[in-house]
Amino acid sequence: MNFETRILDITKNDEYEKYLYKCLAPMPFRKYRKRRGYLEAAIPKGFHKKILIFNEGIVGQIEYAPPEASYYPIIGDNVIVMNCIWVLRKVKGRLLGKQLFADMMKNEKNADGFATVALENHWSPWLKKWQMEKLGFKSLDSVRVMHKLKHKGECFKIYLMWLPTAKNSKPPAWNTPKILEGVSCCTSHPLYHQEKTKLKEILEKR
Ligand SMILES: CC(C)(COP(=O)(O)OP(=O)(O)OC[C@H]1O[C@@H](n2cnc3c(N)ncnc32)[C@H](O)[C@@H]1OP(=O)(O)O)[C@@H](O)C(=O)NCCC(=O)NCCS
Repeated sequence: MNFETRILDITKNDEYEKYLYKCLAPMPFRKYRKRRGYLEAAIPKGFHKKILIFNEGIVGQIEYAPPEASYYPIIGDNVIVMNCIWVLRKVKGRLLGKQLFADMMKNEKNADGFATVALENHWSPWLKKWQMEKLGFKSLDSVRVMHKLKHKGECFKIYLMWLPTAKNSKPPAWNTPKILEGVSCCTSHPLYHQEKTKLKEILEKR
């Protein structure tokens, strides 16, 4: 059996186009409007999506961009924002997440640092703060929120996470009112904002 690990940049690779629109979640592939608009604007500004192939199966992915092309309202000079990283649990313990992460850092070696968001006490298993810390991020700031429509009464925290990679790098900031709007261009994201809600903000500060 071939246990080779490969990381492929699929940003401009038609063969894997569906993974630009969906992630590893078993969701149908749909070129939905919000994602298409996001990709069209983000790709020319330095967005990348990569998949990790292990033992001939797609088991991981990472998505990142400069702040102006990220779907998080993070602001920073010479910073790269990681939208998402995901390695399937069935292949855990093989340092594949670290490989994907290292690949991004190598490809963006001129960045002063990397930023992302993480969650604590969210009902989903996604983007947990301790997992982002395992990759090297530390928290800079947080906001305590509640979803307006789901799990009413349950509060969770969203963290701005930062990993500086240059001496004297300037930490990024974020636009917290904007974070309350959620993420509209990834249907699997724990902060996904469905267009049909007709709300401007799906989260409220608590
Ligand atoms: C975070 C993530 C990418 C890490 O990838 P991974 O392949 O599981 O982890 P790795 O094998 O690369 O390990 C990375 C580090 O975390 C540690 N680690 C991983 N899982 C751990 C666990 N359950 N408990 C303790 N430590 C753990 C490893 O020991 C390693 O630490 P080290 O550098 O000190 O050795 C992966 O767990 C993941 O995809 N989680 C879900 C992320 C998510 O929510 N994505 C959004 C989907 S919408």
